[in-house]
Amino acid sequence: MGLPRSLTMHVIILLCCLFGPLQNHVIAQSTTGLSIGPARALDAILQDYAYRAFVQPRTGIPYDGTAPLNLSGITISAMRLRTGSLRNRGVQSYKEFEIPKGISLNPYVKRVVLVYQNLGNWSTSYYGLPGYTYLTPVIGLLAYDAVNLSATNLPELKVKATGNPILIHFSDAKSAPPGLTVKCVWISLSGSVSFSSPISGNTCSAVYQGHFSMAVESIAPAPAPEMSPAPTPTSGGGVAVPNARPPSQGKVKAEEEDAADGKGS
Ligand SMILES: *[C@@H]1O[C@H](CO)[C@@H](O)[C@H](O)[C@H]1NC(C)=O
Ligand SMILES: *[C@@H]1O[C@H](CO)[C@@H](O)[C@H](O)[C@H]1NC(C)=O
Ligand SMILES: *[C@@H]1O[C@H](CO)[C@@H](O)[C@H](O)[C@H]1NC(C)=O
Repeated sequence: MGLPRSLTMHVIILLCCLFGPLQNHVIAQSTTGLSIGPARALDAILQDYAYRAFVQPRTGIPYDGTAPLNLSGITISAMRLRTGSLRNRGVQSYKEFEIPKGISLNPYVKRVVLVYQNLGNWSTSYYGLPGYTYLTPVIGLLAYDAVNLSATNLPELKVKATGNPILIHFSDAKSAPPGLTVKCVWISLSGSVSFSSPISGNTCSAVYQGHFSMAVESIAPAPAPEMSPAPTPTSGGGVAVPNARPPSQGKVKAEEEDAADGKGS
């Protein structure tokens, strides 16, 4: 496990170096990410239950749904919109989300349902991040075709903010313990995890759909073996500290590792 772990760390650092200057709000990205299976099964259940909230729905109005009893503590909502309206006007306020104009959906549908999820006390069960403590519940924003409001197991539409980003105004964020840096967390539907800085106070920005929260690094040494720093021959560069400017040798080391691996990337 030691070698893959340290490789992962180098990949994270390499990504910092490559993309840090370009997308300066994305500080670190882990492409390995979470084991997302249970969370994706949950997305399917919540799509079904959110759609049940619709009874002759008017467009542009959020309808609160009810999660199944065995998932109590999760809240869901659904809003149906004409795609043209979403693109041209956005949605000023949908729960914690402020959706700008310029949203593109892929594939194209005529009408879309935006499903909102608030995982409440289930957040860490489905989206636990080793080494991090959430300050807010994990919330989700997912888009589906609105053509059949009885449909289940719908695939998500790809949502992209092509102009201004989507803003997430977290309404119940715990304050961070002193000295710790608050990070915005975005978990994509494939389970990759990205961190960025809040754009202000409790507000994070997003370009794509997925699940969102705010988090700090855990203070207590995590019991999980996951978190023991990979042994590194030199100081610096071995542990991904998302907020730290990666030392320049981080990239060099990553390249050496690739070279040592024989094949490069
Ligand atoms: C909860 O109930 C739903 C609907 O009956 C079911 O599909 C799901 O597997 C259950 N989930 C858990 C975590 O028990
Ligand atoms: C969350 O809280 C509800 C009660 O509101 C409880 O029934 C449920 O078991 C809790 N879930 C977890 C994962 O603790
Ligand atoms: C809508 O989806 C449901 C559930 O999959 C299906 O039974 C029904 O035939 C569909 N309706 C239309 C009009 O496609």
